[in-house]
Amino acid sequence: VGHADFVVVANRLPIDLERRPDGTEVWKRSPGGLVTALESVLQASSGAWVGWPGVPDANPEPFEADGIELHSVPLSAQEIEYYYEGFSNGTLWPLFHDVIVQPEYHRHWWSAYVEVNRRFAETVAAATAEQGTVWVQDYQLLLLPKMLRQIRPDLNIGFFQHIPFPPVELFMQLPWRTEIIEGMLGADLVGFHLPGGVENFLYLASRLSGYETSRRSIGTARKGSRSGVVQVGFREVKVGAFPISIASGKISERSKSKEVRQRSKEIRKELGNPKLLMLGVDRLDYTKGIDVRLRALEELIAEGRIGASDVSLVQIATPSRERVEQYQTMRTSIEHAVGRINGLYGTIGHPIVTYLHRPVPQAELLAFYRSADVMLVTPIRDGMNLVAKEYVAATVDGDGALVLSEFTGAAAELRRAYKCNPHDLDGVKDAIELAVGDDPEERRRRMTTLRRQVLTNDVTRWARQFLKALGGEELSAKL
Ligand code: G6P
Repeated sequence: VGHADFVVVANRLPIDLERRPDGTEVWKRSPGGLVTALESVLQASSGAWVGWPGVPDANPEPFEADGIELHSVPLSAQEIEYYYEGFSNGTLWPLFHDVIVQPEYHRHWWSAYVEVNRRFAETVAAATAEQGTVWVQDYQLLLLPKMLRQIRPDLNIGFFQHIPFPPVELFMQLPWRTEIIEGMLGADLVGFHLPGGVENFLYLASRLSGYETSRRSIGTARKGSRSGVVQVGFREVKVGAFPISIASGKISERSKSKEVRQRSKEIRKELGNPKLLMLGVDRLDYTKGIDVRLRALEELIAEGRIGASDVSLVQIATPSRERVEQYQTMRTSIEHAVGRINGLYGTIGHPIVTYLHRPVPQAELLAFYRSADVMLVTPIRDGMNLVAKEYVAATVDGDGALVLSEFTGAAAELRRAYKCNPHDLDGVKDAIELAVGDDPEERRRRMTTLRRQVLTNDVTRWARQFLKALGGEELSAKL
């Protein structure tokens, strides 16, 4: 039995070990929205975080960083291939994102997933204090709640899924569907972003395992949102919708800083002071619809609806899961499109698309958000999409437009964005054209409404509601 009363467990630690070619190692901030979301929660509660350090075979002793105690779970090169790139990102990721690419079902990937989930469970069991609270994150660890309960029945276990929970017909493809549902039901509370996820999960718990389920309020999940309970033997498992958010206040404040304001002006200047600056910020993933927005822009220019000499698009695409084939294919097709657009419509010193395939530090990112006239968020499917919320929080002068795919979790809350269906290219083009040409007063009104939404519903509120529903009154009160 360990000493931490509150433990977050995720596939990755909040910082990643990076091995340089000269053999030295440095810790870097991990990619993705999850870290951004949970970091502030943990710092406020001085808990521990269990996760993989990001490179093969690394197994540093537990240590403290930014007030959080970090416990490593080592993965071998083969486990990274089978558990992480394989089952997590070659099976579950595409299956849960509406099979945008074909998921693969391999028994050796599954075995590695079981094995690694067990190792995580053992590490968490050893780190957590008697009666402690454990909060398990995301699709890489769906079996962990049940495994952990078997070792440590005294613990209070929460599980939150950051990616979509798929329609029942798709989930039913999974050869290990019952084991996955049973694994998740090891938790005391299972959380999703949207009511649809709750519905699908309740249905599957009944259909696959025969448990009795009921739709009822579980106390603190957001008002009007769907929630319910699964009766697993003598245990009640609560299920609810908790849309995640960002540290909106902090982002908004930092965006107001002189540093960010000046840098945002410089960015526009460096781009040749374009009349219209558009921005895309994503992990380079086939779910994000980067190809969709490039195609939309190309056609809008070809049709003369947007002037080639007026527009500049900055697309930041953070490298991600680069050894997985479909990610390589998507990268090639994006880079192809960027080259084609610049070749057709760019001039010397003025490319249409500025493409950055690298991570960008936060201050620089905020400067990009502030400098953009139109933000393009066009995923084919996305659990939430925190970039959309970050853009809104960073638009402190209230002047900016968000084009947002209906297929993101964020679209449920950001109702006043310029919505589009990423499968309907003409619709995407119309949404972009409307955002660009809308009455400035109307655009401002929309942004004001969005800002109110994002600033009120921040990540602390999300965590507080989840932890309260989990029964951690004391913990949630600290936030
Ligand atoms: C998404 C997932 C996270 C994941 C992140 C980065 O946000 O929900 O669980 O950590 O992407 O992906 P990676 O595979 O690099 O951890």
